[in-house]
Amino acid sequence: MTTTPEGVSLGMPQLPAPAYPDDVRARLEADAREVVARYPDSRSALLPLLHLVQSEEGHVTRTGMRFCADVLGLTTAEVTAVATFYSMYRRGPSGDYQVGVCTNTLCAVLGGDAIFETLQEHLGVANGGTTEDGKVTLEHIECNAACDFAPVVMVNWEFFDNQTPASAKRLVDDLRAGVQVEPTRGAPLCTFKDTARILAGFPDTRDGAVEASGSSGPASLTGLRLAKGENPARVVHPRGGSAMNAPPQDTAASDPSHPAGPVTEEGE
Ligand code: FES
Repeated sequence: MTTTPEGVSLGMPQLPAPAYPDDVRARLEADAREVVARYPDSRSALLPLLHLVQSEEGHVTRTGMRFCADVLGLTTAEVTAVATFYSMYRRGPSGDYQVGVCTNTLCAVLGGDAIFETLQEHLGVANGGTTEDGKVTLEHIECNAACDFAPVVMVNWEFFDNQTPASAKRLVDDLRAGVQVEPTRGAPLCTFKDTARILAGFPDTRDGAVEASGSSGPASLTGLRLAKGENPARVVHPRGGSAMNAPPQDTAASDPSHPAGPVTEEGE
């Protein structure tokens, strides 16, 4: 039988997915009841339930999809259609830390492409690949609405702003070495499984995690003021002249001595 690297059958039908062990299923069913109770229509709970099963095994397995289908009264085909549509659900085993490099237009021209190429070479993996130690999965990601902090790297969906090839190499080295790294904004970093459980809607009980929050960057706020017709200040890139020609900035906003803020406004 032919299967893709993600385990999706391309030919003969597969046997039904194995069920979770009884103790795991009982625990997940209790969690699932809590999630489903938040929605007037149970099938609306599918997205958080996929995060829940992802938190169990680190990716959405056939067993996880069968569980979601059983709980919600859906077919496995319906669950598979959703799980394979959204890029936040992994379909194969991956690392503790998902390092996503934004290679959309703005990040790309400001260094995102160079960061991605550097990390592929440094880690010895291609897009979607995981390091041999199982720590880091590298992938390119689409715009994460943090363009004023470009180029942006995300680890388990936490922001690492204003990155460079050098700072990104330090970041993945620290992750692999077990050194605690702090995102530029937002809650402290946790493993992919723990992140998935939070995304399923369960409380983040770590000290200070809920209170931690990011703030809008100067460029975002300027855009807001322009949209409101207020203070049409001109945005000037501090690297001087065209951002296209600007050399990469060898700073990491995750370093507190180099706070984020890639733009200033003229005339304020
Ligand atoms: S283009 Fe990278 S965050 Fe928007």
